Amino acid sequence: MDAGKKTKVLLTGASGFLGFNLMSLLKTEFELYGTYCANPPPIEGYRFIKLDVTSQESVREVLETVHPEVIIHAAAKADVDFCESNHDVSFGVNVRGSENLVKQAELIGARFIYLSTDLVFDGEEGDYSEDDNPNPTSFYGATKLEAEERVLNLSQKALVLRLSLLYGNRGHSNVGFVYRLLESLKTGKSFRLFTDQYRTPLYLEDVAEAFKGIVLDMNFRGLYHLGGPEMVSRWQFGQILAEVFGFSEKLLLPIKMEDLPEMLTRPRDCSLNSSRLCKQMNLQPLSVKEGLQKLKQVMSVNQQ
Ligand SMILES: NC(=O)c1ccc[n+]([C@@H]2O[C@H](COP(=O)([O-])OP(=O)(O)OC[C@H]3O[C@@H](n4cnc5c(N)ncnc54)[C@H](OP(=O)(O)O)[C@@H]3O)[C@@H](O)[C@H]2O)c1
Repeated sequence: MDAGKKTKVLLTGASGFLGFNLMSLLKTEFELYGTYCANPPPIEGYRFIKLDVTSQESVREVLETVHPEVIIHAAAKADVDFCESNHDVSFGVNVRGSENLVKQAELIGARFIYLSTDLVFDGEEGDYSEDDNPNPTSFYGATKLEAEERVLNLSQKALVLRLSLLYGNRGHSNVGFVYRLLESLKTGKSFRLFTDQYRTPLYLEDVAEAFKGIVLDMNFRGLYHLGGPEMVSRWQFGQILAEVFGFSEKLLLPIKMEDLPEMLTRPRDCSLNSSRLCKQMNLQPLSVKEGLQKLKQVMSVNQQ
């Protein structure tokens, strides 16, 4: 490879919350192409291309046109409630769509990185490492796990990266949990948060940092976890956010999962243990307070 040549990377789901942020965070690092499906992002200066992962024809056409060295597959039906009531669509996108892509990736010799989720676990134990047994409690989690297995069976050089709850700047079509929380507090509205649902929240810029190291490094193959360094409840997360952004904590209403019957099947503690990846690449993801302080700075620059 030429010394100055950048790696050509295709990022699926670039119109979504994570993908849209990765486009701006990685655009100088790689020769980056992003895909959208139904929501073309109306911005200049990025290479966006339409892709429907459920269509083999669309997958073939995009991969043959772009011919990436690496594919980061972030496209998914990622809304747990949507997946629960739309099994066919979510299976089609999350499982068959991933399979379509990885098969075509193999044909053109591209490395495949599949982004999965902490929701493959049932949340009974927490602090999950790559050696723990997954047991999804939602259809979303089940489709992501099924896709993980198919990807790893179909490609020897694939990497499956399970991410925990992400927070960061708003995306293009999807605004995310933190944005909804901030909007609520800004307008003086109260927001209900679980005191008994735990995750290891991860700041989006740390995902981008990780990609800078792992995209071409074939030592990162198989399954890895990437979450933040702290296990916090949604309620604790809200309290740190209120402190960092200067909102009244009184607007945060503590509730328990048992207060909402529809939450009873949701995992209680899906915290990820990410020491394998962090040690191997010397990565130190930000604490919730550090990440939210950074987010505050980014948001104030964007508003200027
Ligand atoms: N957000 C989190 O906290 C989190 C945590 C752990 C793991 N993850 C994983 O990270 C990835 C990104 O999540 P996200 O929150 O950014 O999701 P998101 O905002 O809902 O974005 C989903 C993306 O998938 C695209 N898409 C949907 N159907 C498609 C299809 N048939 N063909 C091609 N693209 C399609 C959407 O494109 P259009 O909008 O243009 O249709 C959009 O760009 C997912 O794989 C998710 O499982 C997310």
